[in-house]
Amino acid sequence: MKITLSVIKADIGGYVGHSSTHPEVVNTVKEYVEKEVEKGNLIDSDILTCGDDIAIVMTHTHGVDSELVHKIAWEAFERGTEVAKKLKLYGAGQDLLTDTFSGNVKGLGPGVAEMEFEERPSEPVIVFFADKTSPSAWNLPLYEMFADPMNTAGLVIDPKMHEGFTFEVLDVYTGKAVKLSTPSELYDLLALIGSVGKYVVKNVYRNYDGEIAATASTQRLSLIAGQYVGKDDPVLIVRSQSGFPAVGEILEPFARPWIVEGWMRGSHNGPLMPVSFEDARPSRFDGPPRVIGAGYQIAEGKLIGPNDMFKDPAFDKARQVAQEIADTLRRQGIFEPHRLPAEEMEYTTLPKVLKKLENRFYDTEVERLSDEQKIEKEDMD
Ligand code: F6R
Ligand code: MG
Ligand code: MG
Repeated sequence: MKITLSVIKADIGGYVGHSSTHPEVVNTVKEYVEKEVEKGNLIDSDILTCGDDIAIVMTHTHGVDSELVHKIAWEAFERGTEVAKKLKLYGAGQDLLTDTFSGNVKGLGPGVAEMEFEERPSEPVIVFFADKTSPSAWNLPLYEMFADPMNTAGLVIDPKMHEGFTFEVLDVYTGKAVKLSTPSELYDLLALIGSVGKYVVKNVYRNYDGEIAATASTQRLSLIAGQYVGKDDPVLIVRSQSGFPAVGEILEPFARPWIVEGWMRGSHNGPLMPVSFEDARPSRFDGPPRVIGAGYQIAEGKLIGPNDMFKDPAFDKARQVAQEIADTLRRQGIFEPHRLPAEEMEYTTLPKVLKKLENRFYDTEVERLSDEQKIEKEDMD
């Protein structure tokens, strides 16, 4: 059976501040989507939360970009927003950038990751969901999962993986994409996706047969809205086992924390900390960035799960290392490289502050001249 797995997420109000979601809001979203399952519009659904974001996980047979499915998510978020507004939660409805749904949530604020595939005899998938970061946070782990044999032994050992994987990379500024096949074009891939402010991995396909292996949400709210309206806290779907990376190979990159952008005010770099569902409530300096992993077995489209994949003491060390990185970076305060570089700050609130100083800058060379020299220089100019 061909099924579609759609994950659509939004921040529709934080409790308290930007740290977490409120159960009443989450339940409202959940109940709305479950009614759509009862009506037969969806096969199954589940709700995940990470920090102040809510993700709706849906299985159905309507394919990707289905108006019906996107509308269900949109309406569910609108219902949740009503509750968030009643409770005066922080930033209620912040990711719903318009009042009117127009066929597809893309470009309207919520993040979307969805894929259609023929359900295998056993179909394990993992949905990753992060808060206080951006879609490019997946660049490094996707490279390790699908192109680094030091992480993924299956690239060497499994015949279906041995031909490698193709990465579809999106330039978030131009909207153009390029497909690069690994291992042959590995260095070209890395030349792009190391630039995390510009390039984002959108999809990964298996070279053996072209099957979809992974897909990520790639919206950049600031580029849609033209100003800072919160971070893009991304989702990622990865298929696992039998010709795809094993569950352990998919989780392994997260055992060695790396630094991502998006902490405090979307303006700081910080370590991505893998946590259990319970611990996905970033509070220290509004962070540090969190990621959860929700594992499902899909059975005739039913979501069997979620299994809380980072609720494993084997990730305690990663959490500890992330804390240490956090301490080191916090020592930098407002200074780079903890704070993002100037060009990345363009879509934050910093330019508003800098505007005030614009007219106060003077030419130091001119300032050193005597009054007569200044007049002379003006005449010459
Ligand atoms: C939100 C985030 C937070 C806020 C910060 C300031 O995703 O990362 O760190 O940016 O709490 O929020 P405002 O400007 O709304 O007071
Ligand atoms: Mg928020
Ligand atoms: Mg968030």
